[in-house]
Amino acid sequence: MKAQLLELETRALKEIDAIAEFSELEAFRIRYLGKKGQLTRFVKQIGRLAPEERPAMGKLANRIKKELSDRFEQAKAALDSPKAGGRASLMDLTLPGRAPVRGHLHPISRVIQEVCRIFSRMGFRVVKGPNVELDYYNFEALNIPRDHPARDMQDTFYITDNIVLRTHTSPMQVRVMESQKPPVSIIAPGKVYRRDSDVSHTPMFHQVEGLLVDKGVTFGDLKGTLASFVHQMFGNETPLRFRPSFFPFTEPSAEVDIRCVMCKGTGCRTCSHTGWLEILGSGMVDPEVYRFVDYDPDVYSGFAFGMGIERIAMLKYGIDDIQLFFKNDMRFLRQF
Ligand code: PHE
Repeated sequence: MKAQLLELETRALKEIDAIAEFSELEAFRIRYLGKKGQLTRFVKQIGRLAPEERPAMGKLANRIKKELSDRFEQAKAALDSPKAGGRASLMDLTLPGRAPVRGHLHPISRVIQEVCRIFSRMGFRVVKGPNVELDYYNFEALNIPRDHPARDMQDTFYITDNIVLRTHTSPMQVRVMESQKPPVSIIAPGKVYRRDSDVSHTPMFHQVEGLLVDKGVTFGDLKGTLASFVHQMFGNETPLRFRPSFFPFTEPSAEVDIRCVMCKGTGCRTCSHTGWLEILGSGMVDPEVYRFVDYDPDVYSGFAFGMGIERIAMLKYGIDDIQLFFKNDMRFLRQF
């Protein structure tokens, strides 16, 4: 047994000298010093030796065990030290940390924020209202009679006879006027819903409504306000025009076009070769609407406007497919 123990010692010492990796070192510990390790096996056999042989053999085995344990600790420390090119040297504490992936706002949220910022600076207050709306606010009080084509099942998501998903943000005009006396100046951003889906339509999209009512408000105020908005949103050099139009809740009404941002007015596919792009509907609040909210049309006047956010975002960023906003394709979204 003595010869075997000495042979084990020589072999183990030779092996540990050659070890250059933690995994090997751990395998070494298990092989010799572990519960079922070679040295441990010898120690267990000592009990079966003749009593006079036991002390000497026990002493020898303990010496070898201590020696191998010490060498194991030394080798481990050496592998840990940076000088040895060990584990510690793999860590360079002067390197900058890994930057966490940062999210950002969806382009639609960004445009809504930008529109709100521009009008807030002009003194408009931002308000929000329900997406599920009473027929009364979405149509009736906006002077849209029962037989108006806008009420058609083809365009409107009906929940019941009296409840719809709002088809525009204009019901907020009525809700605000109903709850306060003039002067009012609000904008109302939010989702709207129409039964429509193709390259230029999605069943849900976003609008921002604007309303200003006070004594002596004129069409000139409407023009000035919207011109200022267009110049801040699309640049000071962007020409705009007011084109006569019709809405049941404004009189007179006008749609606002800006010069085509793609071709600068020379005519292209985006503007159907007209050189102009429609960006919003607007007009002076129809006196009929004041009847529903108990405002005196002989004392007060005001204007309202409503714009489609997706449309503004498409023009601002040069995007030609509205569906892209809602597909959540990261390759698209990351560009903003
Ligand atoms: N609500 C109208 C639409 O969705 C836009 C509009 C708002 C027109 C306010 C005039 C005044 O088309």
